[in-house]
Amino acid sequence: MSDTVHPVPQDFGARTGPAELAILHEQAARDPEAFWLDQARRLDWTRFPAQAGDYSYDQADFHIRWYADGQLNLSVNCLDRQLAERGDRTAIIFEADEPGQGRTLTYRELYEETCRFANLLKQRGVARGDRVMIYMPMIPEAAAAMLACARIGAIHSVVFGGFSPDSLAGRIEDCDATCVITADEGVRGGKVIPLKANVDKALEKRDVATVIVVSRTGADVAMKDGRDVSYSAVRGSLATDCAPEVMDAEDPLFILYTSGSTGKPKGVVHTTGGYATWAATTFDWIFGAGEDDIYWCTADVGWITGHTYVVYGPLAMGATTVMFDGVPNYPDFGRFWETIDRLGVTIFYTAPTAIRALMREGDDWVTRHSRKSLRLLGTVGEPINPEAWDWYWRVVGDRRCPVTDTWWQTETGGILIAPFPGATDMKPGSATRPLPGIQPLLVDAEGKELDGATSGNLCIAASWPGQMRTVWGDHDRFFQTYFSTYKRLYFTGDGCRRDEDGYYWITGRVDDVINVSGHRIGTAEVESALVAHPKVAEAAVVGMPHEIKGQAIYAYVTLNAGEEGDDALRRELNQEVRKDIGALAAPEKIQFTPALPKTRSGKIMRRILRKIAEGETSGFGDTSTLADPSVVDALLAGRQ
Ligand code: PRX
Repeated sequence: MSDTVHPVPQDFGARTGPAELAILHEQAARDPEAFWLDQARRLDWTRFPAQAGDYSYDQADFHIRWYADGQLNLSVNCLDRQLAERGDRTAIIFEADEPGQGRTLTYRELYEETCRFANLLKQRGVARGDRVMIYMPMIPEAAAAMLACARIGAIHSVVFGGFSPDSLAGRIEDCDATCVITADEGVRGGKVIPLKANVDKALEKRDVATVIVVSRTGADVAMKDGRDVSYSAVRGSLATDCAPEVMDAEDPLFILYTSGSTGKPKGVVHTTGGYATWAATTFDWIFGAGEDDIYWCTADVGWITGHTYVVYGPLAMGATTVMFDGVPNYPDFGRFWETIDRLGVTIFYTAPTAIRALMREGDDWVTRHSRKSLRLLGTVGEPINPEAWDWYWRVVGDRRCPVTDTWWQTETGGILIAPFPGATDMKPGSATRPLPGIQPLLVDAEGKELDGATSGNLCIAASWPGQMRTVWGDHDRFFQTYFSTYKRLYFTGDGCRRDEDGYYWITGRVDDVINVSGHRIGTAEVESALVAHPKVAEAAVVGMPHEIKGQAIYAYVTLNAGEEGDDALRRELNQEVRKDIGALAAPEKIQFTPALPKTRSGKIMRRILRKIAEGETSGFGDTSTLADPSVVDALLAGRQ
């Protein structure tokens, strides 16, 4: 099935057809500087930049800058400039956990809400360059809070509501935030999430000057005098205008923490001009939402997809964007399709894990809803298996709607490889071809570039405007993580195959990052949570295939002498990970083992652990370098 080619449906009516796309590619290749300046014209600048890209991946002269002499404000682009023509157009459709319990905000209303927030932040002493944490449900106030930071030049860092108080505290500490914006509680899948109580717990470790609490459920939550402010109590007194800061293109816009191979999550820094250009450009190219579209990306603003394709991209392009605070299976498995019919959604963008979970429940949940408004489908976050792609195309989209499988990363700011819905023939399971101006290449382990149809490690040769600029507080880690493996290339951490048509097929991470339901988890983080338990001597964590989540976490744990591993301890360890990181990182399987497979120099041979977690019983390769080869038999015997 993977070799099936689906031509673009005849009546899709794309703005960018194959001929226009070829011209974009040609322009980007011929005169990149002019091409990238042209893309920046999608935005309103206070001062339009004279130069586009200025970068070098060389260690001696390492720097990445885009539009460096330009000035702009992203909230102005998302709000003020929309008011003249579409002030009364719906900017955000909030779809609450309970179907139909949401509300809508016009561009003017969102502008006013953002200005209120911005004025409150200023009253509380938050200034340009300060860091503000946002720990909120998917409510319009979350978008207003992000835009308010952008308006006054504060740097936001959104933390997904599913992360634990400990994780939140770690992030507050890392970026030295002075303010947290949260809600009393969240509600998801009918379950209450005690957001403010979590914030209070986090702040026991690391306090801040201000906590702004938005009312979502109206619950009675503890408020600390002098620090905590109820947004609803002060909202009426806040002015609905607020002069925007004029930002330099390279001023940081936000920090978003993401997991890597080693250590604690990194604060990925995106700056204003390049990120905004990339968000607007890729949203326009791939989704091209016009005045008649209702666009719904199901991601949470706690992830990069929520930043770029729920908030900044759609609003900068004046689209109507849905903010969904629910889950795909509540109140039942028809939730997505019922909501699409009720709201008239035309463009729908979700994750393969959701598609797989719903596919399993049968077609009837889908076909009982009409979905006639849909015209375009997208996926993001992990490789989509051809079967799930086919179901999405055939059952959800009735073979009418192109499916755009978009490959990108927190680090890339926006989509880099994806089919142009009106122009690129699709192959189920392939993100197809790079966007104009993007230069992927495949290298072998030594960094040698591989030509033609081949497999290798995916790198990107030239910079693009949306590329991350640094790791917060650790520029050297930025260079070491992404630019030291292969000289003068950005290394993505992904493995990839390129076929004879030049189509890219992402095969998954080649480093120690596990992609669980499209969420990145670092093995080192989970291991350090496990070894924090007093009974644990050592832990090694690997990914295992999972039918719905794509990958799940398999943990191998050795206990201190005299300790017994049983289900009660498994539950305790699971709890430890939930407390340290959050439920999303909880291991699927925990295997107690007397020893881990180590080389004589003490290095854990993860290759063997991965194979065993995948259910293999042989083919472990050369095990002669193991200090104790009998470990393999013990591991096989204790498989979970
Ligand atoms: O392994 C790739 C996978 O997700 C990783 C990036 O994760 P994150 O930074 O959390 O961003 C997710 C949303 C952009 C990548 O290194 N990935 C993302 N999209 C795809 C994908 N793998 C295959 N196909 C995709 N479309």
